[in-house]
Amino acid sequence: MVNVKRLCKIVFPAAGMGTRFLPATKAIPKEMLTIVDKPLIQYGVEEALASGMDEVLIITGRGKNAIEDHFDISSELEANLLAAGKDEIFKKVSHIARMANIAYTRQKKALGLGHAVLCAAPWVGDEAFGVSLADELILADEPAMQQLRAVYEATGCSVIGLAEVPHTEVHKYGIVKAEQDGERLRLLSMIEKPSPDYAPSNLAIVGRYIFTPRLFDHLKNTKAGVNSEIQLTDAINQLAGEEHIYGVVLNAQRFDAGNPGGFLAANAVLGLQHPEYGENLRALLATQLATSS
Ligand code: UTP
Repeated sequence: MVNVKRLCKIVFPAAGMGTRFLPATKAIPKEMLTIVDKPLIQYGVEEALASGMDEVLIITGRGKNAIEDHFDISSELEANLLAAGKDEIFKKVSHIARMANIAYTRQKKALGLGHAVLCAAPWVGDEAFGVSLADELILADEPAMQQLRAVYEATGCSVIGLAEVPHTEVHKYGIVKAEQDGERLRLLSMIEKPSPDYAPSNLAIVGRYIFTPRLFDHLKNTKAGVNSEIQLTDAINQLAGEEHIYGVVLNAQRFDAGNPGGFLAANAVLGLQHPEYGENLRALLATQLATSS
């Protein structure tokens, strides 16, 4: 164990355009799409809280007001639910508005994930912080951010969540070059969406990070890269040149819910597990499979 300050801050960049999910995301923020009965961003915030990170900053942009409304107190709704004796749903609704201390910063132009994280610099200050992409839904017995946190607390270094992906899919992800460093995996560099021929591994970055504040110095100097966006990956590469960065292959089930295929899979899996809806869904799917085969 090294002597590190308690990690309590986490940033949710949520100002992207969500083009892979159009037209659904034309008027609804991608982060507000629901998996069974909760929006993606709520899963992300709950995972952060379960990992002991209770100071939350959400980076929003134009058209993202629904996110703030979701985490706000709705006095009228709460009063109506109480008056109607709907105690269970009242508890759920009032809990959302009180579960975390949430702040918001606006990214005025969607200039890329790196730029969105840089918008968090004044709020974060000079301490380590988490970054979580809520459209990556990650289900695990030990919450994903907690798995990263354990390595941060042992080393004081930046830590990035990884998953093995099929070789044929490396072009969809940031892929890392890594080497074993004792019991840990040290990240040497990373490349954004490589073709399979150039991919240094099949370990993909999956939207969970802990960074030392030094990252901001690199982000400030990062020029627009792929797609004319300020890429987080470019700044991480710079950081890897001067500090150790570790990778954690997450022990988890992961869904890229930012595209319709991953979103449907997440709804199917969580729907089947749901105590109220699971049984009916299982029966429906069984009939559907039997008649379509
Ligand atoms: P994505 O790469 O998924 O981009 O961003 P996107 O715009 O949301 O979706 P597509 O690719 O067009 O379908 C990863 C994360 O970074 C945030 C997004 O909200 C998402 O959480 N982001 C991206 C920003 O906050 N600002 C940006 O300028 C870009």
